[in-house]
Order: sequence, then structure tokens, then C-alpha cells
Amino acid sequence: MKNVPLVGYTNKLSGRPGVEIDFKISSQTRSPIKAQLFRSISADPNPKGVGIVEESCEEFFLAQTFAGRNQPFYPGSYGKTASPLAVTAKSEFKVEMLVWPTQYCDHNQTLLTVGKTVLLIKPDGHVEFSFGGHTVCTPNPIKLNHWYKIDGRIGVEGQLSISATLVKQYATTQNVATESSKLAVRSGLDLDGIVSVGAKISLGFAEQLFNGKIETPQIWADGNLVANWNFSSDISGLSVIGKNCPNMDLVNHPTRGVKGAYWDGSEHNWRHKPEHYGAIHFHEDDIYDFGWDTDFSFKIPDTMPSGIYVMRISSDDHEDAMPFFVCPPLGKQTAKLCVLVSTFTYTIYGNHARPDYHAGWKDRIKDWQAYPHNPAEYSNYGLSTYNLHSDGSGICHASHKRPLFNLRPGYITFGEGDCSGLRHFQADSHLITWLHAKGIDYDIVTDEELHNEGVSAIKDYAAVTTGSHPEYHTSQMLDTLTAYSAGGGSLLYLGGNGFYWRIVRHREDTDLLEIRRAEDGLLAWASEPGEYYNAFDGNYGGLWRRNGRPPQQLVGIGFTAQGIFVGMPYNRVCHDPEFDWVFDGIEGNILGDFGFSGNGAAGFELDRIDPALSDGLNLAEGSSITVLAQSYDTDNNFMLVPEEQLTHLTNLSGGPEWQAKRADMVYFITEGGGQVFSVGSITFCGSLPYNNFDNNISRLLSNVLSRLIG
Ligand SMILES: [Fe+2]
Repeated sequence: MKNVPLVGYTNKLSGRPGVEIDFKISSQTRSPIKAQLFRSISADPNPKGVGIVEESCEEFFLAQTFAGRNQPFYPGSYGKTASPLAVTAKSEFKVEMLVWPTQYCDHNQTLLTVGKTVLLIKPDGHVEFSFGGHTVCTPNPIKLNHWYKIDGRIGVEGQLSISATLVKQYATTQNVATESSKLAVRSGLDLDGIVSVGAKISLGFAEQLFNGKIETPQIWADGNLVANWNFSSDISGLSVIGKNCPNMDLVNHPTRGVKGAYWDGSEHNWRHKPEHYGAIHFHEDDIYDFGWDTDFSFKIPDTMPSGIYVMRISSDDHEDAMPFFVCPPLGKQTAKLCVLVSTFTYTIYGNHARPDYHAGWKDRIKDWQAYPHNPAEYSNYGLSTYNLHSDGSGICHASHKRPLFNLRPGYITFGEGDCSGLRHFQADSHLITWLHAKGIDYDIVTDEELHNEGVSAIKDYAAVTTGSHPEYHTSQMLDTLTAYSAGGGSLLYLGGNGFYWRIVRHREDTDLLEIRRAEDGLLAWASEPGEYYNAFDGNYGGLWRRNGRPPQQLVGIGFTAQGIFVGMPYNRVCHDPEFDWVFDGIEGNILGDFGFSGNGAAGFELDRIDPALSDGLNLAEGSSITVLAQSYDTDNNFMLVPEEQLTHLTNLSGGPEWQAKRADMVYFITEGGGQVFSVGSITFCGSLPYNNFDNNISRLLSNVLSRLIG
């Protein structure tokens, strides 16, 4: 496995004064590590802009040096009993389970172990049952992506046998013959020990990890069922209750709420027929929490201004930089403007290995002194929910409790093209840099506080602004923003493709997020039919639009077109004198034909008004949504998002496709008196720092903010 020489992560991405942030670091060097704290102003390494800008924070954290150490991590999910199974079999013994293998590996894949007994799939696909040194193997390999009943047993005369029976395909009743063979065993039946499912535990470490689904592992002794784990019970939990046997802990978060062998298409919600969802999908590359020990902690001081901070560590020639977000004390805002940092979206994208990454980007990374490591080169650190597991299934879990390479100052998402090529944390720093340049005070609140604290986290701000891509939301977060807006708070949505996917946090490990890529939308992978309901809470996953809460109900616009990483200008379309304040000091109608993201303010992912989807929007009486500016895809660089498409000739909006492929910059006033300004483009913020912050997008946002926060 390839390791980064010096890397770390924090237990929390954000906190208010008094909260302690733990730093967990692994070093391959033998040298001491130095830690220094900075405030992050700009995370864009592009030398054509202001570059990386950070302020020293020695008054809050004195630089310290400490001994480094290597901290290992162990990918792969499996189940393991909390205590040994105490079983005595006088003459007969049997292990039995349903198995859906998803890939052959160059190593054995363990299905179950207990004592001297091992049931596994060999690299050639044959299933092997062994007891002590005795083995028996199926004569034929099992097929991938089919359900088998696997039965390994020791008979009364000490003979070993194994069978793998193809039980059925989903929604069919097809059966084929059992394959079995026999081998005499001369030793006794020593069966006591920890039971593991999906991996073999050797000296406390899991190895020979399995890829695929397992259902209802059972152990029989002398004709009696002595251990039985029903994986369809408490599907949202992190362990499985053992029936008359020890409970089984699930390590590294395998996927639950997936179709089992008995699923027949009659039900799609696991809560209604849990017996159809008795499988757990294990992956050899599941890893979401590295579980490293803490090297040092930092308690956020009461006097520390709300902002974005970076703990930089260095040892020999190696460096790392761990960002965290400091909010003001609850109820003690220090600014009229709140910047809502999309930490859940950052986490969902954490370690996104892009398929277009290639080593040719390294020249620019070196020239710009950008963050040097890319997730595409370190898949062993766990990839993102935009990637696939090694067996081809989509990664549906995410957590920040591991090093996230793309959540680093100076990380470049796109390593070529004539712009900075930034997204997420680094792209959002264009807004932060601009606020500093303009002398506009702001507080930081992140998705974490929005979810946990509800409207009390933001209620006192005159305005709350998003960054470039607030894409992923829990129901609690949407409820909070809706209540804030209804209560008269003003919203600035300075991004594109926002409020798009529904996510959920795990009740036991709240840093663990789940996404189901259900039904449709712009998908990195597609959830299996029958698996559209979250395992974590049983709710229907996928797009908020498919859950009856399209983004148009909150911010007036919603996702309509996706393109390459290019930006276009907006055209001013509103000439009503009532809205001249928006364009004060701006000459002409062309807005944002420049920028550090895609070279234009309207780009990459675009949102527009759709009257059919904004029914729930509580507009002020007599008020309507005003379109201030628009940007059409004149060069055909964009595609209509799938949920907008009906046939090859028709789309939902009914007009020609080009009409729907646009960004709408809008303004409206809500029933509660709050104002909403939405730009409908991911690249908007990239234009703010252009020309030393002196440009018409910068001016336009200044005008809007002046109106919203006074
Ligand atoms: Fe996205």
C-alpha cells in the first residue's frame, strides 16, 4: 500500500469556542513534527490570483514540536462477535449462509471463521470448507452476482462436505444442483472461538476480506442451531444481535438495507419487509474512520474570531494542512453576515478520485506549489461517494475522520485548463478572500451546526450565504434554512446544483453520512433497484426533488444543466428601475465574462427557475421572482440533467432544450420579509477575485450585500 509521508485529520471539522479539536497524525519520517496554526484567507494556489494567503495565529496557538509516529489503518468491512462462541459439537457440525459474491480476488475471501473452521472463496471462485488441516472444495466455481446457499459441514463419521447451491435469481425460482465432495476428518471438533464473517481475524487483524453480500450466517452443532445472526434486524444499527449467541459487531461500516436472497420486487422499502433485506454488503475497501490516536488537541479559545483555520504540520521536507472551521459562541454573532460552509458536501466529496486525473497535472501542481497528493493515487485511504468500491458497487458512506486530500488549501481539482480549476473548499475561498478584500465582516457556521442546532445557529444573522456548491442536505438542514427564510432571514445562494441530494447521518456514529443515488439525477453511480431507501433512517433517499422538496422551494431555482468546467457570462435581462440598485456602478449588460473558475461566472453546473417546482415558495404577497440576469449555453457545452429529460425530443419544461440550459440569477422577497438572491452557477464565486477584486460580478455582489445586510 502506498502511504503519504505526513498526513493527518481532525475529529471535528468545526466548533465553537470551548470545543476541543483533536489532531491525529501519521508520519513516515523519524523526525519531529512541527505544528503551526494559521487563518486561511485564500486557498487558491493559482499565481495569477492572490495565491495561498494565510495569517499567523500564534496568539491562539504557540507553534509546538512533537515526536512523529506511524499510525496504520485497515480498510475492509466485516463482522466479528464481541465474545467467543462457546460451542461443543459431539459428532455433527455445520455452518450455513447465503452468499452473493461480487468479485474474484487474488486472495482467499473469507465467508466465516470459528475456531478451526474456515469457509472461504478461493481466487478461482471455488468455495472451500476447512477444519484444522482438512479441506474440501466445490468442484466448480460459483458465479458472481448470484445468490448461493453455502453449506459446509462435518458429518457424524467425521467427513467434511461443502455445497454451494444456486438458490435463485431475484424474482425467479430457478434452482440448480448442489455441488459437494467429502473428505474424512480424524481430529476432534474444537469449535470455540470468535466468529468472523467477511474476513479472517489473525492476531487481531482482519485479512482475506470478502467482497459481496452475506445473509443469515448460522452455526449448527449436533443438529441444533447454536448461533444465528439475522442481518434483517435493526438494519440501521452498527451491530447484529445474536440469537442465543454473542452479538456481532460490524467493523468499517459495510452497507446495510440491501436486497437479500428473498427479495422478489414486491417491496422496495426495507422497513416494510425487512426479511427481504437480510443481506449485508461487505467491501474489502470500506474505510471511513481511521481510528488514529490523538497527537495533540486544540481548545478553541473564547477570543478566537470566527473564521477558517488551518493547522499546518511539517517534518523534514513533508507538510500537511488540516483545515477546521471556527464558529462564534452560540447566540453571540459577531457579524451581520453568516457564511454557511458546506462541510457535509465536502465530506461527501472527500477523496474524490476523478477519472480524468493524470500524472500530467503534476507539472502545474509543482509550479503552483499546490497540494501535492491526489486521491486517485491513494485509493487505499478510501475514496468518495463519487467513486466505486473495487467490486463495482457505489460507495454510499462518507466521513471526515480520515485524511481527505481534496480538503486541503491549494488542492487542485482540475489540473489543466486556463483557470484555477478549483471546487468546494478551495473554490469557496474565492468568496472568503473577497469578503476580506472588501472588508465585510462575516461569521462561519457549517452544516454541522445547522444540522445539530437548527435555526438557533443562524436566526440572528441578517443574511446567510452559501458558497459555490451546497449540494447535500439532511432534512434537518433544509428545515432550518426554510424556517430561517420564513422568519425573515435573507439568503444568498452563490452556487449551482445546490440543495440537490438528500443525505442522512448515522444515529450511532453521527460523523458517518449516507447517500442513496436513487431513481435519477446526475449520478456518479446508480443505486440498485429496490435499494432507494436509506439504511440509516429508512427514509427514501436520492434527490430532494424526488422527495417533494426541490431547491426551487427554498432559493427559487434548481439544477438544470451540467457541462464541462467552463464558464460563460451572464446577460443582464432586468431593466426595471426598481432593480437598478443591483446594477449600480455596472456598465453594460455583460456580467462575468472572466473568472478563476472556468473563466466565466456562469458555468459548470447551472440552475434555473421552474414555475412547476416552486409552488412551495412563500413569496411576499404581490411579489414574484425577478430574473436579474441569465446565461445560456450558446456553445453547447452543457447537457440537460436527466430529470429534466423526457424523450429524445421533449423535456419537462416543454420548450426547446436550449431554453432550459441556462443559469438564472434571481431575486425575490419572502412572506416573512426576507430577501433571497440566487445566482444558479457553481463558477460565480470564481469571478469575485478577478482583476484584484475590481470587476462587475464583485460590484454586483457588493450591491446585493449592501441591501441585504445594510
Ligand atoms: Fe456536485
